[in-house]
Amino acid sequence: MQSEIIVASSLSVRFNEQTVLDDVSFAVRKGEVFALLGGNGAGKSTTLKTFLGTVQPSAGSAMVLGMSVADEISTIRSKVAYLPESVTLYGHLSGVENIEYFLSLAQISRTSDEIADALNRVALQSAAWNRAMSHYSKGMRQKVAIALALLREAPVLFLDEPTSGLDPNAIDEFNQLIAALASEGTTVFMVTHDVYGACQIAHRIALLDQGKIVGMFERGEASHIDTEAVHTAFSARNKR
Ligand SMILES: Nc1ncnc2c1ncn2[C@@H]1O[C@H](COP(=O)(O)OP(=O)(O)OP(=O)(O)O)[C@@H](O)[C@H]1O
Ligand SMILES: [Mg+2]
Repeated sequence: MQSEIIVASSLSVRFNEQTVLDDVSFAVRKGEVFALLGGNGAGKSTTLKTFLGTVQPSAGSAMVLGMSVADEISTIRSKVAYLPESVTLYGHLSGVENIEYFLSLAQISRTSDEIADALNRVALQSAAWNRAMSHYSKGMRQKVAIALALLREAPVLFLDEPTSGLDPNAIDEFNQLIAALASEGTTVFMVTHDVYGACQIAHRIALLDQGKIVGMFERGEASHIDTEAVHTAFSARNKR
């Protein structure tokens, strides 16, 4: 079994004349929660998008599940789950209807019991299951997206600022769910500017500044990454 699930090899990205990513390399292992941390405009979302094939690198390569993004993007997209900063789905459909619709597009068939199990697992209140998603809060929409990923049995989750705009209880709940999925073997790549949140949830944090990786922090045997150390490195880079 392939143990390096997400690999960036000397990735560079240029938009017009601007170098947005500069020689970025890292590898995310199976079952790892890897956070890319950096200030606004550091290049976090751009890095994530190179794995989804929506941004083309000017140099270097991106691999997911042993497949090259340049060559096998459709297979990669059919396997991974991506939660953008704001999960929208279809507002006029309910959570259950959205799930049924996206499963049918992916030609995956699941029973209503299996859908109910997934929605229970992400702890979406059952009163909301059949209400139009336009009435859902951000946290509720995110739960539906994760339930869909569970039903698709996605081995990899890409998350862009997943906890921004969630209340503290929703963040705790979200973190516990992500930790449980990772311990079951799901590989999680998230981008965030939240130092504290990244330290709580990630096994490893890469600090990105102006398109370059300038620090790497590991949890090791500790229960979480040392917030103070990451905060010091982060603010030294972001005070200009
Ligand atoms: N499609 C694009 N065309 C031109 N420039 C872009 C494009 N996408 C991003 N950029 C530029 O690339 C840089 C990095 O953007 P990116 O969205 O990756 O940052 P980020 O770290 O995700 O920031 P934030 O925390 O604000 O989401 C910014 O200077 C941005 O203006
Ligand atoms: Mg971003």
